Amino acid sequence: MKILICGGAGYIGSHMVKLLVARGNEVITFDNLSTGHREAVRWGELVVGDLLDRKALAALFKVHEFAAVMHFSAKSLVGESVTDPEKYYENNVIGTANLLKEMRNAGVNHFIFSSTAATFGMPVQARIDESHPQVPINPYGRSKLMVEMMLQDYFRAYGMRSVSLRYFNAAGADPEGQLGESHDPETHLIPNVLRSILGLTAGLKVFGGDYPTADGTCVRDYIHINDLCMAHLRALDYLQFHDGCHGFNLGNGNGFSVLEVIQAAREVTGCAIPYSMEPRRPGDPPVLVADSTLARRELGWDPRYASLQDILTSAWGWHQHPLF
Ligand code: UFG
Repeated sequence: MKILICGGAGYIGSHMVKLLVARGNEVITFDNLSTGHREAVRWGELVVGDLLDRKALAALFKVHEFAAVMHFSAKSLVGESVTDPEKYYENNVIGTANLLKEMRNAGVNHFIFSSTAATFGMPVQARIDESHPQVPINPYGRSKLMVEMMLQDYFRAYGMRSVSLRYFNAAGADPEGQLGESHDPETHLIPNVLRSILGLTAGLKVFGGDYPTADGTCVRDYIHINDLCMAHLRALDYLQFHDGCHGFNLGNGNGFSVLEVIQAAREVTGCAIPYSMEPRRPGDPPVLVADSTLARRELGWDPRYASLQDILTSAWGWHQHPLF
């Protein structure tokens, strides 16, 4: 079974490629390398191209016969989406519309979409399940929700089967050290904590100590990258036997504050981790924790990295010896 991985040179997509190849699937990565890394595509063919380039997409679907498409290509910085929304609507919405059009032209009917907790907006309940209202509060979240809505219409009108997987906080790295997180600029908490130990950032900043949480810092649900990828495998298999357009929330169901993450990183690395307390970062909800009961039940998904320490250990391994 040949699978197209859009964004296979990126953080999550590259781990997905590794897992699919290990399972015996053939994969083709399509990536414009705007944020991904050529070195991250260690398995299968890399086709460098952009989803906004309809001709390149059409050529790709002419050359290969795909059984399914997994779509990881997206702009994904909340702050940037507020200052430059055009980039988000173009890449995330128009780019995906182009991809779906070529899938239809080629008769490819199974689609796995990387969605996000940002489609929910401000949480109205402690744990966010699939029934939580989707009212995004920034263009990034809106661009992802627009695609989710397109997918509903594509199923109704064209019978295209899809699964949207809404990630909470993707974290950690390939335990074998072949892949990991490498963004420029880096905005995420765990890489910034670890890079601060290595002297690779000017100093660790904690954004906001006055949230209505136990220690005043934001609480997030960190989910290991391999657990996320396993959910994609399950979703791929699910589509073989289930019609429809589905959405699942993916998290561990445990919330950790920024200060708890820093403390766990001290324990894992044995290093002191000084930080400065800064004002809140715009657009950060105080608490985001998933209820992934539905994914566990429907997909048979069983995340393995329940502890924050295990997630940090794999990330620390990568950040000490990054390959790109
Ligand atoms: N944080 C810091 N210092 C840093 C980096 C982050 O204090 O150097 C804080 C943030 O303010 C936030 C928490 O750590 O409170 C987690 O921040 P991340 O940037 O690691 O992750 P987010 O929760 O902001 O982002 C995630 C996904 C996004 C998604 C968003 C939805 O990575 O793709 O959730 O809210 F859009």
